[in-house]
Amino acid sequence: MIDSIVYRQMAAKDIEDVVATETEVFTTPWSAEVFAHELTGNDYATYIVAECENEVIGHVGMWVILDECHITNVAVRKHRQGLGIGEALMRQAMELCRNNGVTAMSLEVRVSNETAKNLYRKLGFQEGGIRKNYYSDDHEDALVMWVEL
Ligand SMILES: CC(C)(COP(=O)(O)OP(=O)(O)OC[C@H]1O[C@@H](n2cnc3c(N)ncnc32)[C@H](O)[C@@H]1OP(=O)(O)O)[C@@H](O)C(=O)NCCC(=O)NCCS
Repeated sequence: MIDSIVYRQMAAKDIEDVVATETEVFTTPWSAEVFAHELTGNDYATYIVAECENEVIGHVGMWVILDECHITNVAVRKHRQGLGIGEALMRQAMELCRNNGVTAMSLEVRVSNETAKNLYRKLGFQEGGIRKNYYSDDHEDALVMWVEL
């Protein structure tokens, strides 16, 4: 773990760093416009970022509707992966949800993404169904995972 990381709600000034992370780790990254809309035009959305030495190096997004949360994306800059930041971001999201009366959290993950699946299993997520051809770029299947909070 790195000690000097601050976890806080995402702001408009973070969009550039967040998109840089997305572009580095995802084949279909979300754009600056999408994040701008998420921050200002989506009442259901909350984003938490991890900041280290004035740079945002990871983020997690969630849509909360009544007592259910759906994780939209979680990502950490490549050079900061494997240091506990992804886990800490997910724990922050889970804590925030618990404090707001959310009882269940779900997400989709590429069936081949063993790193992310390990992270979610570590946090108590169980495997649900498969969404066939879920990802638009290569039609990989998604595994749905969920946890009771
Ligand atoms: C998935 C991701 C967010 C994990 O964040 P991270 O900061 O690298 O992971 P952490 O250091 O917090 O590790 C937490 C757990 O994840 C799993 N994990 C992390 N790196 C792993 C690896 N290289 N291989 C296998 N499991 C791994 C382990 O269970 C680990 O717990 P442990 O350290 O007790 O073994 C990050 O790797 C990432 O951004 N990947 C690309 C984007 C992505 O795939 N996002 C998920 C989309 S569903």
